Amino acid sequence: MSVSNPSHRPIGIYDSGIGGLTVLKTLIEQLPNEKFIYFADTANLPYGNKTPGEIIQFSHNIISWFQNTMQTKLVIAACHTSSALALNKLSDNTANFDIPIIGTIYPMLNTIINSKQHNNIGIIATKASIESKIHENIFKAHGFNGKIVSISCPNFVPIIEADSIDHKELDYHAEIYLREFIKEDLDTLIFGCTHYPLIKTNIAKLLPKHIKYIDPAEHIARDTIALLTNNNLLNSLNQTSNQSNLTFYCSKDADKFGSKIKNILHIHADINLHMPLQYCLS
Ligand code: DGL
Repeated sequence: MSVSNPSHRPIGIYDSGIGGLTVLKTLIEQLPNEKFIYFADTANLPYGNKTPGEIIQFSHNIISWFQNTMQTKLVIAACHTSSALALNKLSDNTANFDIPIIGTIYPMLNTIINSKQHNNIGIIATKASIESKIHENIFKAHGFNGKIVSISCPNFVPIIEADSIDHKELDYHAEIYLREFIKEDLDTLIFGCTHYPLIKTNIAKLLPKHIKYIDPAEHIARDTIALLTNNNLLNSLNQTSNQSNLTFYCSKDADKFGSKIKNILHIHADINLHMPLQYCLS
């Protein structure tokens, strides 16, 4: 793929599976002229129970593929686990990436720190993200001095990625995970995994009505627009806001992944979905 004007290049976005589609959906609405390539690392799903070394390696492979093979102008890590464990390592000079990378955590930072509405925060995320303590460390380093209660929810992603969601099983685990929050008098819940907005109804019915939910998708979209604008990378040429702007790749089970894309993004026609031949884990 060779595109000379950088602004005409696509935006790469990735997750372990369908979670990042919650971010892609918002991006498509707010950036209708952009072309997106979505990669789901379904062969390595779930990332949340992998070691930091594995998560760094998967993320490195995907970002390299976006930069070198797909020539994207930007990469969005629509995966908290990758953002938490890998992005600080991959953003330094030794990683050889010269395109910008946006993660899930920094885009919501200003809202957390500057809004008076978020004082007692609950965070739900994968085991790897919670064990990294990245949210606490970043928020506190930037002056947040409220309460933060973090809970890992390892059963959520496998249930959400199953052929169909078993709501009984989901509610059973949600009740156990969220019990702790009810005692804590929280005002805010952060979806610290991009899969979780897909089960917001199951979560919200267990928590007090006044809780405010932070879905990083809106914040990521705002930062993406700012980055493209400030670097003269907004695509002004492509005026076709339609499905041809979307290309999907996954590393396993393409049929299963394809039908989930259609459900989540409400697409009724054929989708442009491939398994990348060049992609390998070495
Ligand atoms: N959706 C991802 C996240 O935001 C990955 C979940 C997983 O694969 O465990 O953390």
